[in-house]
Amino acid sequence: MRSSRSRPQPFERIAPYYDRIMQEVEYEEWVRYVESFFPWAKGEVREVLDLACGTGTPTKILVQHGYRVVGIDRSVAMLRVARRKLGPEVPLIAADLRKFALRKQFDAVLCLFDSLNNLLTELELSEAFENVRRHLRDGGVFVFDVNTIYALEHYWGNDVKVKEHGDLITIWRTTYLPGNRLSRLDFTVFAPDEEAPGCYRRVDELHLERGYPLKTLKTLLNRAGFRRVYLFRHLTRYTASEKDLRVTFVAR
Ligand SMILES: C[S@@+](CC[C@H](N)C(=O)[O-])C[C@H]1O[C@@H](n2cnc3c(N)ncnc32)[C@H](O)[C@@H]1O
Repeated sequence: MRSSRSRPQPFERIAPYYDRIMQEVEYEEWVRYVESFFPWAKGEVREVLDLACGTGTPTKILVQHGYRVVGIDRSVAMLRVARRKLGPEVPLIAADLRKFALRKQFDAVLCLFDSLNNLLTELELSEAFENVRRHLRDGGVFVFDVNTIYALEHYWGNDVKVKEHGDLITIWRTTYLPGNRLSRLDFTVFAPDEEAPGCYRRVDELHLERGYPLKTLKTLLNRAGFRRVYLFRHLTRYTASEKDLRVTFVAR
């Protein structure tokens, strides 16, 4: 068994395995849910910016649904997978979602699958929200979701989970640090080594997610210029609470 235990940027080393690890995720349903908020924009939604697009699964579904989509992610390895999936036509940009600058505004901006929990300070979140505001046309909608503090503390918690995804094995070791509402995920993938049949390649990554009170997120959105902010229990139209695991925000 080979071991490689250095810790590069999150999502760089697991990128080739990400889609298999996430194969249970109901992306089609998720994207339909997000699209159900597009009529909340003033005017038609045609151009969509998919922030933290990762390997581009939601991006692809949106393209199939007829939207013109641009994807942004800071992980070049995730974008490499996305490029294979999406072909040459869809613009994909390697950039930090807090800092990218396009000479263009969109009808809708999305940031899905708790990507914003990867921002570890309120300052970083504010930078992200302000940058989204700059890239959203007047009346456009911003839709994103977060893991709640409750989810990080009680669902991720302090735990070790082992999962199988076909011939891949993953280990999820989570530690919750209540003082700063930070969850540490030590993530390991064992994947069959194509160069050495019968052996597995080991890949380790460290992922950190911070939980934010819903009220704080709303305040930061208001400060960034979003006047109307709605919070829903994920995949529903029920008003969100701190006890939900995932909350979807719709802001304009
Ligand atoms: C859980 S994945 C979600 C990918 C995709 N949205 C999906 O639904 O499958 C989180 C993504 O956020 C990206 N990411 C995290 N922080 C980022 C940042 N500051 N700027 C751009 N991308 C970021 C990671 O590289 C990763 O691809």
